[in-house]
Formats: sequence, structure tokens, C-alpha cells
Amino acid sequence: MSDLASAAPRAPVIYNEAVVRKFIFAAMFWAIIAFTVGCYIALELSWPELNFGLSFLNFGRLRPVHTSAAIFAFGGSALIGTSLHVVQRTCRVRLWGGDALANFIFWGYQFFIVMAALSYVMGYSQGREYAEPEWHIDLWLTLVWVLYLLVFVATLMLREEPHIYVANWFFLAFIITVAMLHLVNNAALPVHWAGAKSYSAFSGTQDALVQWWYGHNAVGFFLTAGFLGMMYYIIPKSANRPVYSYRLSIVHFWSLVFIYIWAGPHHLHWTALPDWAQTLGMAFSIMLWMPSWGGMINGLMTLSGAWDKLRTEPSLRFSVTAVGFYGMSTFEGPVMSVRDVNALSHYTDWGIGHVHSGSLGWVAFISFGTMYYLVPVLWHREKLYSAKLAAWHYWIATLGIVFYIASMWVAGIMEGLMWRAYDANGFLQYSFSESVVAVHPFYVIRMLGGVLFLIGALIMAYNLTMTILGKVADSARTGVALPSGLAPAVGD
Ligand code: HEM
Ligand code: HEM
Repeated sequence: MSDLASAAPRAPVIYNEAVVRKFIFAAMFWAIIAFTVGCYIALELSWPELNFGLSFLNFGRLRPVHTSAAIFAFGGSALIGTSLHVVQRTCRVRLWGGDALANFIFWGYQFFIVMAALSYVMGYSQGREYAEPEWHIDLWLTLVWVLYLLVFVATLMLREEPHIYVANWFFLAFIITVAMLHLVNNAALPVHWAGAKSYSAFSGTQDALVQWWYGHNAVGFFLTAGFLGMMYYIIPKSANRPVYSYRLSIVHFWSLVFIYIWAGPHHLHWTALPDWAQTLGMAFSIMLWMPSWGGMINGLMTLSGAWDKLRTEPSLRFSVTAVGFYGMSTFEGPVMSVRDVNALSHYTDWGIGHVHSGSLGWVAFISFGTMYYLVPVLWHREKLYSAKLAAWHYWIATLGIVFYIASMWVAGIMEGLMWRAYDANGFLQYSFSESVVAVHPFYVIRMLGGVLFLIGALIMAYNLTMTILGKVADSARTGVALPSGLAPAVGD
């Protein structure tokens, strides 16, 4: 193509926004469900009689409803929606495969979530954490996920831009790795072709190792790489600045994906897993600190010269705080992976505190930031309904996180210390039930933190719904009004 031809103005691309809108709306809906169930199980841990003796309300059945609703329904819908938005915008092409296929991915994914949740409350489970659904549901998800991969890759291949923007690299790593993890970890033999019961293809220590290779990389590629893809798009767009260092983002990508995949054995310290494998998991977890902080620095430094926008841009406020929490939980994780620290932290609520500083602070906050940015863009509204309400959401949710994680740290370290305390005769100083009584007040504080977080999400749902309806309450700014000229690396 001659220089003249390439300089000619391009015809505007009509993106498939409808499917992105559906995913973002679904994320908003599932956030409320996931947080409500989270609060309910937090209540049950404080007052177990709240299961009312009903099997479908008991903690064991509702816990996977909470984790799957939070990770796969809320987080997954936010991720898939954002990735389909970003890939179109940064490649300047409409989604490959047509609207029917995109819609199938949306409805197919929602069907998976509903089936999984129903099966848990009915008592069906493979007993593998974060991979509880039985084999038919797994097969269905495989179909939907492969189609998602196909649409994403084909859209990338059709791109009108020479360059593949870094956010897409992270999304692609997320989609491919989750496919691989899902297939290997769910390899199972059904007892009967029509029955909802299967046995894992692995056994004993190998089974545990495969499960935690899956579990840790679900954290690494679902809860981290995917949301980093979000970060690399939303922060530059909301700040209207190019990414601080594009080179650092590439180093960040390759080092993160290479190192994460080896760290799984840190979930199996002091078990029958060979010592060398535990040491390997620990060493790679410590190495993970570097790429994680490299990414955090890249995200934060993108704001150089634009820090004032934190006052006015709700999406930026949430996403920058999210990056702060990302840094905090990726500092804490390597510390917990040290075998001697893990001897104290494992089985305690410290783990739950770590999980929620990552999931509330990083995953949920970066998703909220994305939703505050995307809703006005997708529904073509010039303004968010209310910046004040977004600020209320921000402060209430932040307070909720502080209640949640601080109480779990105290509870966890107290449990760890009580369980290993000996008296002068070498007997355990405390019975297990004494440690349960001791953590009760902290469970109540955690529950209150969760309720604050839920209230914040309800405020967001109201704010975004009013935005969708085209109402304006105060002078909020939105991403839609921002000129994009200063952020060339981000595409349109
Ligand atoms: C450098 C990064 C990270 C490292 C090295 C790391 C390391 C660890 C370690 C050592 C544990 C405790 C394992 C045990 O005692 O059983 C753990 C648990 C966990 N972490 Fe992280 N973590 C990191 C970042 C994150 C982030 C950003 C998130 C969330 C977004 C997260 C989510 C989780 C979850 C869900 C668990 C609980 C798994 C379970 O037992 O069910 N981690 N992590
Ligand atoms: C209102 C907000 C939330 C509340 C009140 C809440 C509450 C809880 C409770 C009570 C547990 C069980 C703890 C235990 O077994 O001792 C739990 C586990 C968990 N939650 Fe949440 N949660 C909330 C939000 C989230 C979000 C947004 C995510 C992810 C995006 C998430 C991911 C998880 C995970 C992965 C576990 C399992 C942790 C493990 O096994 O180590 N939660 N949550």
C-alpha cells in the first residue's frame, strides 16, 4: 500500500458493543449476588445456626456459590466483556464471527454459571476448589471457552493496527491458560454417562499437585493476568496518558507468565509433596514479586502528571487503588509462600485475609473502575449519573476492605499462634474450640466489612443504572468526554 493510501482517513468501524454491554450488566448483577452470599456465609461463620438446618443453606454448599459467583460470574463477566471491548477498539475491527456467535458466548457463559450454582446448592461437587462443577458442566464450559478463544484470536488476526496492544497479550494469556488448566484439572471418569458423579483421573499426591497447579494459576491467570489486561487499558484511557513504559509492560508480561506457572506447590507446604517441589514453588513465588511490582509501578507511573485526575475521575480512583492493593497482596503472597511463614499462616484466616485483599482490593476495585469508565462509553452517555455517589461507593468499600482484611490478619495470626502454643509440660496450651471462640469477634467485624462492601456495590448499581437511563444528578466527568489523542498506544 502506498504512503498516500495508508494516510487516507479510515471508515469508522461499527463495533459490537451490544455483547460488551450485556457482559458489563451481568458483572454488575453478579457482583451483588456474590457479595450478598459472601455476607451470608460470613454471618454463618459467626452464627452457624443461621443455616436453619436446611441443606441448601449450609456453609459447605454456599461457600462455592460465593467463590464461583465472585470469581467466575462477577470477575469472569467483567473480564470477558472488557476483553471483547478492548480487542475491538485496539485492533479497530468488529468482533469476528458475527453477533450470533458473540451472543452464544454470553448466554452460554451465563448458563454455565447458573448450572454450576444450582448444582452446588443441590449438593453436587467434584470437591476441587474453584473447579467444583461436575463433568457435564465442565464440558459445556469447554465449548463456550473455546469459542471465546476463537473469536478473540480471529479478531486479533483481522486487526487493522500493525501492533497488538499489550492489554491483548494479557487477555490472550488469560484465555489460553484458563483453557489448559480447566482441561487438565477436570480430567475425570464419569461413573455413569447420565450421572452427576465422576472420579478424577489423578490420585494421591499427584491429584493434589494438579489441583493446586490449577488453583494457583487460576489466581495467576484469571485473577491476575486478565485483570492486568484491564489495567493496561483502563488506566491509560481514564488518565488520558500513554502507558508509562511500554518496554516494562512487555518484560512484565513475559516474566509474569513464565514464573507464575511454577508457583503452585506453595499451596502444599508440609504435605506429602516432595520437599524439592515445595522449595521450587517457594522460590518461584518469591521471584514473582519482581514482575508483580514491575507491573504495579508501570500502572502507577502512568499517572505521572495526571494525579490531579484522581479527584475527578471515579474510574481512575478505583483502578489506582486497585493497583495499590495488587502491590500489597503480591507482597504478602511471596511472604506467605516461605515455608516457615506458611507453617504459621496455612489453615488460618490469614489466608482468607490475603485472598480478600487480592479479590476485594484488586479484582473488584479494578472491575468497578472499568465499569465506571465503560458504562457511559457503551451506552453513549456524556456523564456518569453522579460522581458524588461514586465517591461514597469508593470510601464505603475501602472502609469495608480495611475491616475485612485487618480482622482476618488478627484472627489468622492469633489462630496460628494459639495452635502452636505449648505449656511447660509440652502439652498444647489451647484446645481448638478455644481458638474458635477467640476469633468470633473478628468474624463479626469481617461480616460488617463485607456488608459495607455490599452497600458500596449497591450504590454503584444504582449510579450505573441511572447513567444507563440517561439521568444526570451532578457534574461527574466520564471517560467518554476525554480526547484520546494523548494516548496513542491505547488505540481508539
Ligand atoms: C506474587 C503473587 C502471589 C503469591 C506468591 C501468592 C501466594 C500465596 C500463598 C503462599 C497462599 C497460601 C497458600 C496456603 O497456605 O494454602 C496464597 C493463597 C491464595 N491467594 Fe495468593 N499469592 C499472590 C497473589 C495473589 C493475588 C493477587 C490474589 C487474588 C487476586 C491471590 C489469591 C489467592 C487465593 C484465592 C488463595 C487461597 C487459595 C486457597 O487455599 O483456596 N493471591 N497465595
Ligand atoms: C462482600 C464481599 C465478600 C464477603 C463478605 C466475602 C466473604 C467470604 C467468606 C466468609 C469466605 C469463607 C471464608 C472461610 O472459609 O473461612 C470467603 C471465601 C472466599 N472468597 Fe469471599 N467475600 C467477599 C468478596 C469476594 C470477592 C469479590 C472475591 C473474588 C473476586 C472473593 C473470593 C473468595 C475466595 C477465592 C474465597 C476462598 C478463600 C480460600 O479458600 O482460601 N470474595 N469469602
